[in-house]
Amino acid sequence: MAVFLTGSGLYTPTDSVSNAELVAAFNQNADQNGKELSDADFIVKASGIQNRFLMDKSGVVDPNRMKPLIATREDTQLSLQAEMGIQACEQALASAGRTGAEIDAVIVACSNMQRPYPAMAIEIQHALGAQGFAFDLNVACSSATFGLTTAKSLIDSKQASRVLVVSPEICSAHLDFTDRDSHFIFGDAATAMVLESEPSATNSFEVQSTKLLTVFSNNIRNNGGFLTRCEPDMTLEHYPLFKQNGRKVFKEVVPMVVNLINEHLAVQGIESQDIKRLWLHQANSNMNRLIATKVLGVEPLSEQAPQILDEYANTSSAGSVIAFHKYHTDLVVGDTGVLCSFGAGYSIGSVILRKCA
Ligand SMILES: CC(C)(COP(=O)(O)OP(=O)(O)OC[C@H]1O[C@@H](n2cnc3c(N)ncnc32)[C@H](O)[C@@H]1OP(=O)(O)O)[C@@H](O)C(=O)NCCC(=O)NCCS
Repeated sequence: MAVFLTGSGLYTPTDSVSNAELVAAFNQNADQNGKELSDADFIVKASGIQNRFLMDKSGVVDPNRMKPLIATREDTQLSLQAEMGIQACEQALASAGRTGAEIDAVIVACSNMQRPYPAMAIEIQHALGAQGFAFDLNVACSSATFGLTTAKSLIDSKQASRVLVVSPEICSAHLDFTDRDSHFIFGDAATAMVLESEPSATNSFEVQSTKLLTVFSNNIRNNGGFLTRCEPDMTLEHYPLFKQNGRKVFKEVVPMVVNLINEHLAVQGIESQDIKRLWLHQANSNMNRLIATKVLGVEPLSEQAPQILDEYANTSSAGSVIAFHKYHTDLVVGDTGVLCSFGAGYSIGSVILRKCA
C-alpha cells in the first residue's frame, strides 16, 4: 500500500544562544573551578554549530547554574514536551490540510521522554482530539525515521490511515553544560510529520521505501533512568547525563551511513545522480559533507544536502526533519530525496521520498 508524507511542522523555542554567549558562561564557570577553557572558533570549526535554540536560556548562561530552569507543572497541566509537540503538530496538520480529529494514531518519537507514563503521545492525542491510539517510541537520534517506518507499517497493515509522528526534543536537559567536549553540541526543537494512505493535493511525498539498522556501541550513552536513584551514593549532582566519544562516533558512523544509504538506493534501483536532496541528521557539518560526497559521488552543493545545524545545533531526532521541513517545497513532482538519521545505539534510518504532488 502506498504511504504519503503530506505535511510537516516545526516548533522553535524563543530563546536563542550564540556560541559566544555559551562559551562566556562556560569559561566563567571553568575559571571558578580551575578547568580548561572553551573556544567559540573551535566549536564552529569542529562542528559547524554557530547557535542553538533552548527551552530556557537563563539557567544555561548562568555560570552558577549551568542547566536550564524548567518550572514544575501540575499533573492537570499539559506537559512541556507535549506542549512543544502540539505546536509542531498544528503546523503539520495545517500543511496537510487535516484536523486533529482526522488523525487515528500518534507516535511520539524522541530521545528523551520527560516521564515513562502516561505516554506523551496519548497526552497529545487527547489534546488534539485525535482518534485511535498513541504511544511513545525512543531510538535516540533515529527516533523520527524509526517512527516514520512504524507509521508506514501501521498504514500498510490498515491499523491506521493517518498518523502523526512527533519529535519534541529538549536535549539541553540531558547535556552537561560544564563538559568542555560537549557543552556546545545540542539545541532544543520539536518536529511533526503527517503520514497518510492518500496524498494531499500539493506538496506530498510518497514514502517509497525505508531501511533501518542498529549496531550496538558504547560510544554514545545516557545512563540516567529509573534505577539511577537506587544506586549507592547517588545524588542529583551526579545524575548521569549525555556522554560520547565524538571522534570515534565520527569515524565509525560515517561509513555505516554511506553503506546503508547506498545499499538502500541500489535495492530500489535508484542512481546517485537521481537524488535531488539529502536531508541528513544534523550532528556535525564535516560529517554531513563527507556522507553527502560519498553518496552523491561529488562534493555536494549546499542545496543538495541542506544544513540547519549552524542555527539549531544537534536537535537529535528532530534534526533531519527540520532540514526536510525547511528545504522541500522547491522540489518538483518526480524528484527523489533521502531523509536519513544516525546516532546513539548506533541506530540509522534511511527513508526514500518521492515528490508526487
Ligand atoms: C564532538 C566533536 C565536534 C569534537 O570534534 P573533534 O574534532 O573530534 O574534537 P576532539 O574531541 O578530538 O578534540 C580536538 C581538540 O580540541 C580540544 N577541545 C575539545 N573541546 C574543546 C572546546 N570546547 N574548546 C576548545 N578546544 C576543545 C580537545 O581538547 C582536543 O585538543 P588536543 O588536540 O590538544 O588534544 C566531533 O567529534 C563530532 O561531532 N563527532 C560526531 C559526534 C556525533 O555525531 N554524535 C552523535 C550525537 S547524537
